[in-house]
Amino acid sequence: MMRKKTKPAIVPAKLLQAATKVMKNAHAPYSNFRVGAAILLSNGKIFSGCNVENASYGMTNCAERTAIFSAVAQLGPTIEIRAVSVVNDQGLPCSPCGACRQVIYEFGPDATIFFQGVKGPKQAHITELLPEGFRLQ
Ligand code: THU
Repeated sequence: MMRKKTKPAIVPAKLLQAATKVMKNAHAPYSNFRVGAAILLSNGKIFSGCNVENASYGMTNCAERTAIFSAVAQLGPTIEIRAVSVVNDQGLPCSPCGACRQVIYEFGPDATIFFQGVKGPKQAHITELLPEGFRLQ
């Protein structure tokens, strides 16, 4: 019998662990703010990334986009993001920036994001963080 694939369970602690591990690889000499992100794909795989800054500040790549681009580079453009976890080394509130929200939305229009909110750990659907995200079609 042909079965429709079930979505992988989201285990926030596992994503948090992957994000915390990769955060240590951040290149953040300008802001001193190290960020790690981990993404869970609908195939159950986890990819992670850190922020990579540059002396030309605007060239900086956030942890979230590093993780997503790494997954696309490895698996191709059909990846589906189920969840994203973001951590930083200062325990400060840190939700994905506007640019990263749009990139998350591209591959994860139903993704759940785990991050440090102003009042502590928080989770939110990508469409709460990015209402009316842009899609070309
Ligand atoms: N940063 C991230 O990597 N992800 C976020 O969600 C917020 C900001 C990085 C970019 C820059 O290297 C540093 O944090 C300070 O803005």
